[in-house]
Amino acid sequence: MKTIPLLCLAAAFAQTHAFPPQGGAPHPLPWSPPGPNDVRAPCPMLNTLANHGYLPHNGKDITEQHTINALYNALGIDAELSKYLHQEAVTTNPAPNATTFSLNDLSRHDILEHCDSNIDDIECVCCLANYVRRR
Ligand code: HEM
Repeated sequence: MKTIPLLCLAAAFAQTHAFPPQGGAPHPLPWSPPGPNDVRAPCPMLNTLANHGYLPHNGKDITEQHTINALYNALGIDAELSKYLHQEAVTTNPAPNATTFSLNDLSRHDILEHCDSNIDDIECVCCLANYVRRR
């Protein structure tokens, strides 16, 4: 079962309201494709945010503040959820004591991946699934 897409969309819609922009990002931003040195993720939403410049367009060295601003300005997701997702994403950065991640880090296996079947499985490492389950 593809749990992440359903939970991602539920989280986004549940927390999307009329929201004022923060962090100075204009809205909407023009789309441009990744260049030859840009990196992208297995996550279509993060790729979209980078292509529109809500996240760094090169997809690299994404800070907690980048994540908070991007998810809020584009989707109205609150800072608490964004901080949690950022912390999960940072675990995919192989650098010691990392505080940032790059979109291609998310493609590393056995760190953040879809739940295959059971949301209650202790081995489930879907970041959004775990977040929703703990609330
Ligand atoms: C920092 C925030 C986020 C992180 C770290 C993240 C991470 C990921 C990862 C690692 C995957 C791939 C899972 C796999 O293939 O096993 C994924 C997939 C996905 N994400 Fe995200 N995600 C984030 C935010 C979001 C948001 C806000 C949405 C939607 C509102 C979203 C929608 C999706 C969807 C629909 C997929 C499934 C794509 C597919 O199956 O082809 N994500 N995400």
